[in-house]
Amino acid sequence: MNIFITGATGFLGGELLVALSKRKEIDKIYCLVRSISEAEANARIEHIFELHEDYLDKNKIIPVIGNLSDEQLTDSLMKNTVLNDVNIIIHSAANTSFSKIYDDLVERVNIDGLNQVLSWAKQLKNLETFLYIGTATICGKDIKNRIVYEDESPNLNANHLVKYTYTKMMGEINIHKQLPKEKILIARPSIIMGDSRPWLPRSTVILWALATVNMMRLVPVNPLSQLDIIPVDYASAAIIELLFTKRNHYIYHVSSGIESASNSSKITNVVHECYKDKPLFKFVDKSMISQMKNWARNRLKPYQELNYYSDYLDYWNKTFVDSGKLRMLFAGLEPYLDFTELGQVFDNSRLMSDIKIGAPQPVHEYIKNSIKYFGNIDVFEGAIDP
Ligand SMILES: NC(=O)c1ccc[n+]([C@@H]2O[C@H](COP(=O)([O-])OP(=O)(O)OC[C@H]3O[C@@H](n4cnc5c(N)ncnc54)[C@H](OP(=O)(O)O)[C@@H]3O)[C@@H](O)[C@H]2O)c1
Repeated sequence: MNIFITGATGFLGGELLVALSKRKEIDKIYCLVRSISEAEANARIEHIFELHEDYLDKNKIIPVIGNLSDEQLTDSLMKNTVLNDVNIIIHSAANTSFSKIYDDLVERVNIDGLNQVLSWAKQLKNLETFLYIGTATICGKDIKNRIVYEDESPNLNANHLVKYTYTKMMGEINIHKQLPKEKILIARPSIIMGDSRPWLPRSTVILWALATVNMMRLVPVNPLSQLDIIPVDYASAAIIELLFTKRNHYIYHVSSGIESASNSSKITNVVHECYKDKPLFKFVDKSMISQMKNWARNRLKPYQELNYYSDYLDYWNKTFVDSGKLRMLFAGLEPYLDFTELGQVFDNSRLMSDIKIGAPQPVHEYIKNSIKYFGNIDVFEGAIDP
């Protein structure tokens, strides 16, 4: 059995690649890698195995140079005849940016790039499964404070907080146009943050937002809004089990579900235990964010409510000597705060009935392993490209 995987140099894709490399029933794993030379492509794959402190079998793991934003990608995949025997495609690559400045690129990579892969995939004679790593957040922003079910998406009427979730929704729609249902498997993770193993996190995607909130301490979100967050090792293990098990469905949430859901209050309680030298976390209404931005621009009016939190403003003055940096943080953080407010929990009963590993630990339990590494995260750098 041969696998072709995209996004293997990423947070989740790297995890999937290393786990798949151990499966005896797999002969070759071809990895689409962005690079300018074979040497660089090899080095990028080697780096993944180094991060995991794992063995790389170069006879089994084979990089294939390619870029999803290259309009010739389908042609070059077609011409690469060693790929004719691929049985499983795992499409994990995506541009995951929430920032408006990347909207065009996000669309090009996540919609056009996927279409390029599909054009190649649909003519493969031995293709058994096209596994698309989607996202549960394609349900959009109008669903609030309730459990969300797989069948509610994709819904073209959904309104999206960011272009990214729209493109992931369109990805699912396009897969259905190109491939028969029996060849499609869609895994929709909720929010993947950190690791439940005591490892140095190999990616600070999403963890960046928590590190930023840890620095700010005055947080404009509802502390009790439910959050569906899972660790990357669970996401990978669940997806791989799904891939090789007898499935009763073809679309699955890979999520905490209601039993392992959390909220900002529970998570920040755990964070505070590790950083007791900072002020206690204080939650304020999300509408306060505009006053916070004004404060960072020295435009807060004396009568505005934020002035009541003078202890926190003093702390901000000491922490963010350059208020321009605080403005940068807000710009990066705002979409994350918006997602936090939605209170969406993604039903995982399909997953629970079809795989054996059970539900993940709640984030407020496993995140202890990653919190201690916040010092390694440059939150200002992350704010530019979280
Ligand atoms: N992280 C989450 O919370 C989350 C939640 C739900 C679903 N997901 C989904 O899970 C998948 C993996 O996400 P992730 O968190 O692992 O993201 P990530 O760490 O940002 O990894 C993205 C991967 O996509 C590749 N990629 C981006 N643009 C590309 C292009 N133009 N051509 C080829 N490859 C390209 C990247 O390659 P380079 O290394 O070359 O940049 C990287 O390997 C995505 O499909 C995402 O939508 C993620």
